[in-house]
This record gives sequence, C-alpha cells and structure tokens, in this order.
Amino acid sequence: MTLRSRLALLALTFLTTLSARADEGMWLPLLLKQLNEADMQKKGLKLTAEQIYSINQGSLKDAIVQFGGGCTGEIISDQGLLLTNHHCGYGQIQSHSSVENDYLTKGYWAMTPGQELPNPGLTATFIVRMEDVTSQVLAGIPATGIAEAQREQLVLQNSQRVAQAAVQGTGYQAFVRPMFNGNEYYMFLTEVFQDIRLVGAPPSSIGKFGGDTDNWAWPRHTGDFSLFRIYAGPDNKPAPYSPDNKPFKPRYHLPISLAGVQPGDFTMVFGFPGRTNEYLTSWGVDEVYSLSNPAKIAIRDAKLKALDTDMKVSDKVRIQYAAKYASLANYWKKWIGENRGLRKLDAVRVKQQREAEFQRWAESGDAARRAAFAGLLPELQRNYAQGRDYTLARDYVSEAALGVELVAYANSLQPLLELTGGKAPAAELATAVEKAKKGTTSFFKNYSAATDQKVAAQLLPLYANGTPAALLPTYVKELQKQYATTGWATYVAQLYGKSRLTSEASAQAVLDEVAAGKSDALRQDPAVKLAAAIVNNYRTAILPGYNVATDQIALLQRTYMAGLRLQQPERKFYPDANSTLRLAYGQVAGYEPADGVKYDFYTTLDGIMEKADPTNPEFEVPARLAELYQTKDYGPYAYKGSVPVAFIATNHTTGGNSGSPVINGNGELIGINFDRNWEGTMSDIMFDPDRVRNITLDVRYMLFVVDKYAGASHLVKEMTLVGTPDSGADTTPDKKLKKVKVKRKKADA
Ligand code: ARG
Ligand code: GLU
Repeated sequence: MTLRSRLALLALTFLTTLSARADEGMWLPLLLKQLNEADMQKKGLKLTAEQIYSINQGSLKDAIVQFGGGCTGEIISDQGLLLTNHHCGYGQIQSHSSVENDYLTKGYWAMTPGQELPNPGLTATFIVRMEDVTSQVLAGIPATGIAEAQREQLVLQNSQRVAQAAVQGTGYQAFVRPMFNGNEYYMFLTEVFQDIRLVGAPPSSIGKFGGDTDNWAWPRHTGDFSLFRIYAGPDNKPAPYSPDNKPFKPRYHLPISLAGVQPGDFTMVFGFPGRTNEYLTSWGVDEVYSLSNPAKIAIRDAKLKALDTDMKVSDKVRIQYAAKYASLANYWKKWIGENRGLRKLDAVRVKQQREAEFQRWAESGDAARRAAFAGLLPELQRNYAQGRDYTLARDYVSEAALGVELVAYANSLQPLLELTGGKAPAAELATAVEKAKKGTTSFFKNYSAATDQKVAAQLLPLYANGTPAALLPTYVKELQKQYATTGWATYVAQLYGKSRLTSEASAQAVLDEVAAGKSDALRQDPAVKLAAAIVNNYRTAILPGYNVATDQIALLQRTYMAGLRLQQPERKFYPDANSTLRLAYGQVAGYEPADGVKYDFYTTLDGIMEKADPTNPEFEVPARLAELYQTKDYGPYAYKGSVPVAFIATNHTTGGNSGSPVINGNGELIGINFDRNWEGTMSDIMFDPDRVRNITLDVRYMLFVVDKYAGASHLVKEMTLVGTPDSGADTTPDKKLKKVKVKRKKADA
C-alpha cells in the first residue's frame, strides 16, 4: 500500500470510529426515533422510541422529574412515590434533623402517610413536551455582522415571547434552551410540583457509606437513595403545600425489575445532565487542562488541607465544615481525575488532529465554504490566547480570593454601602440591614474565624502570586510590597485581628451602626476594603476583557459546530448537556483501570462488610445491616449468596444525572445512577468507551434496605415489581449445560 492510500484508510477508519463510537451521547428524547431507535433496538432495547418519549400517550418520560435544581428523580408507584439519591435529598433530610431526631445518622421512614414530611421550596418538574423553536427564536436576527451580546439580547426576547405564547392558559411553565452552541433552540414545556414530601431515607452509614474517600470511585458500596412523594391539589395539578393535598397520580410510573443485570445487558439513563463540553477545540481543552484545572486544584488542595487540620482537632469545627468540605472535595477530586483522563487520552493532540482535518475540509471547499470556515480556527486560537489571562484571573478571584470566607462575607455586605448616606430611602436601608443581620446569624453558625484565618494565610498569597500581575488590584499590589519582608501571614494576622467582621457579636454591632446611619465602621473595615478592592477590580479590569474574549469564542464556536455538522454529514451529533432532559444508552461492563488491573461489573453486601471500620465514621456499618448479613435474610434480593449493591455501565452521564433511573431493555428500572468512575471523569470533555463508567445503585439493594432493613414493606407493596428474581444459583449457560448432561446420562443408561 502506498503511503497515500494508507493515510486515506486511516482517515476513513478515524471517521467511521467517530460515527460508530459506542455509548457516547446524551440524546434529545424528541429525536430518538429519527437518530437512535434502530441502534438501540439492535443493542437490546425492546421498546419503541414512542414508548420512551411520547406527547400522545403515557411514556417513560412521564415518570422522570428534575428533582430540585440539580438532580433527577423517577416515579415508582401510581401514588407519586419518587426515588432519587440520598445525596440529592441530603439538604431536606438534614433540615428535618435535630440532635433529638437525627435522621441523617439514623435514617427516616414514614410508616403512615401522616408521617411524610413537607419540604418548602423543593420542586419536582415534569417535561410535558419539547419542541424545536429555532426558526421562531432566530426570526429577525441577522446570521452575521451582529455583536454577540446584541444577538443574545434578541434571542432572549424572542425566547420569552415563544415561551409565553406556549404556556397561555395551560398552567404549565416553559423555557427555551440553546442547543449546539446556539445553532438550534428548543422549548421545554414543564409542569412543576411544589408539595414534595420526604418518605424515607437510610442512615448516612448506608446512604453515604464510603463518604469522600469512596466518592468518584469504583468499586463502590454506597446505598445512595432516598424516597419522596409528590402531592397534588384536588385536580391532580401542582398546588402549594396543603394538608388536604393528595398523592399525585402520575401518567406513568416505572416498573422495577428483580431480574438483575449481567455484563453486556442494554441499559439507558433518562435524566437531566447539567453541562458538558464535547465540541471544545484544542485551545479550549488546553485552557481547562493546563490553566484552569491546575490552578483550581492547587487552591482547593491548600484550602482542604487547612480545613482538615482544624477539623481533626475540634469536633465543633468538624461539624461546622462537614458540608463545605464535602462540596469542595467533590469537584477537587473530579478535576484531578479529569486531568488524568485528558492526559491519558492525549486529548489536546486528538483535538488538534480533528482541527487539522476540519481545516483541510474548509480549505478544499468552494468559495462559500472557504469564506465561512477557513479562517475560523485561527480566529478561535487568537481569542483563546487573548482570553487566557482573564480566565485565570477569574478562577483566582472565585476560588482563591472569595474562597476566604471573611472576604466573601465582607463582599456580601458591600451593597449596604450603596444604600447609606441618604442614597436610598430609610426604609430600604432598614430592610437591607435586617436581611444582612439574618444572613450574618446563619453565616456564623458554620464559621470558625481561626480556621478561616489559616485558610486566608494559604489562599491570599496563592491569589496574589497566581493572578497575572496586570490584573491584580493596586490595593493588593501595595499589600504585597508592604509585607514583602514579613510575609502574608503577618498581613493576615493583622486583618483578622483588626476586622470587626470576625465574630458574630461585633459584626452585628457594625450592622446596627449602619442601620443608625453610621457606615464608617463598615466602610473602613480592613476586610471590606480588601473585598472591595478585589471585587471592584474584577468588575472593571477582568470581566470586560473576559467577556470580549468569551463572546467572540461563543460566536466562533457556534460557527465551528455548524461546520462540523457539514463536514461529517454521516455522523450523528448530540448537543452538549444543558440541564435538559436527555437519554443516554450503553451496556453493563467492567473495565481495566490500569495495567494488570481488572474491575468486575458489580459489588455486594459482602464488600460492605469487608470495608466496615467502626473507627472510621465514613465506613461504619449499622448494627441492623450487620445482623441481616449474619442471618443472610435477603429474600428475593439475593444474588449468589449476597445482595448486589452497585453496578457499572457505559452510559454517558454527568453531574445532574444523579438520581436518574437506569432502565433495562424492557423499560424496567434496574438501578439509580449516582456517580461516575474517577478514570472516566474527563467524559465531560472527551468520552472513552473503554474507561468511562456510570455508577448505579442496584435497585435490589434499595428494595432490600427498604423492606428488610427498615421494615417499610408497605412502600415495596406500593411499587410494581416485575421479572423473576435471579438468585444466581443457576446461571443460564450452566443450567443449559446441566440439562444437556442429564439427557446424555439417560441416553447412556
Ligand atoms: N460525586 C457524586 C456527584 O458528583 C456524589 C457527591 C456526593 N457525595 C460526596 N461524598 N460528597 O456529585
Ligand atoms: N454525583 C453526580 C451528581 O450529583 C453525578 C456524577 C457525575 O458527574 O457523573 O449529579
């Protein structure tokens, strides 16, 4: 073969692998019939696309809700019973907890409807239907020669008009979201329920078993689920909380399979993934990989270490910072995994190769194609180069400067200064101070000034040294000079010594002075001065430059996206995740995380007992669970002498998919999605079917905990259980083998 034909072949295999890349994709339910139905059925789906998403009849989508702002839930009974993750219901479980009734520690099970607990502010949102509204949204907007900010403005106006028209007289809500970087727009008509009650939650020693140590990790043993119920008004429509509300009667609820899963089984995940960036260019990937992630990882690393030191020596600090620590650690660990994954995939170089192909395609086209696309990539490169410093400066402000709680708190008080000295009516100032005083009370509940001072001593120098010099506020540069010999710790000690915002009593006193018309103490407070310098500089020196670059990148990326679709007409594209309803599909599979290591596809209760450690709160096992393990009272939930806890599959998921139903080929619930493997966290930017796995709680562990552990069998009775339990005693191939053997014996005899 000549070099030329070999190259041609290479290019061909490259293109076909692109279009056939298994399991990548978060698909719009509306387009399943057109794009995915045949492929899904080939891989094991027994349903039609219409049975998954239909606007005419009850379909799977009618059992899926966005739970609160950032999770997914599914309906599992005709009485509106809702299943989601323990970590999704965590805030609600916590809000009902007290020292006397510590549901976080002990779990909670409503044994009667009257015990189901209301949760003000919590919503469950169904998608009534979705619709391509691109032509309405883009009507009257010129395709070129318009500033991006102005285009955004017009898009917003048109979107609001379209949404308003759609909800007229329906009682529904609607919003429009851009797809493919604004090449298309979709409207989502929603029904938002507001009376959502807590029904059941396992103790954290089940629901959060493994804690931060096991977070993002496989093999996993977390029983990450909780149960809620949607209540509706007398007409079965959304209504604010009322004791008269009735359990919601859904259009559809998911049957639950007891049959379990095996490697290779078809799976799909239906939910609300938050955000991905799959079509980022090499410069965008490089910015994440070599600029933002390393900075943010280093900042959080320093902060977590400082917190950890204090949390270890004081129980008070440990409790105050538990939730903050967990949420900092969650993405810290994710970014580390993401960067390792990007390196492993050589992501920047892979993107460069794709861009080289795109460039060849653009330049080899007719005049129109060349005009539209040939200059695009160099322009993107130029804008990324221009935006780099601003992006980094922005990361340092949000993660390092505002990562110091005193700075963030002082900044939150700044707007008060705009209202003082007669700049606003007295009543307005009084209301604002009242609000700030309430905020102050709740801030100090979970604040340790001594701990925060240690954080500041770490983070402020990182901020000052990491921010590109030209984008550092003069005030901070002067501090740098002033404390050049004594060091930042000296400044920080003086800051925390002098500021009156480091204790609740003195902060409230400062606010009382503001209310009485004396705002000098607030204005002159060193923490307010520092916060004002940082945030004002951010607004005037960083944000404008950042916006210029990112607006331009948004426009160019939209063109690039359109170009990619023209360049690869045979490839099926899916839009990046944007918190709208999506379906991902794949198959149950283990993986090989490293040379010489093989991971199985599932974990069991035996593994929980192996990890059990009474000296480590993350790995405590409740006595009742240990007892069930001893007596092996597993009922129909047993598999090979244990209870399956979690399994992994190749579905493409991200944050927001937590709580999503994992569904088998028959449309039955087999699990609840709750995490991703660490080696797969780069899938928000680049998917790799060999190592990306979503982590799912096996539905049989949920049933086992509800039924056998909690004794809440009335809840299990409410569900629709289907499928023959697979005890694993006789796996199908073995059974066949035995039958064959038996027959032979008879024949022999
Ligand atoms: N990593 C999971 C998800 O992003 C679970 C997070 C909650 N669990 C925890 N241990 N912090 O969001
Ligand atoms: N735990 C994540 C969530 O809360 C899902 C994990 C992921 O990012 O895939 O949505």
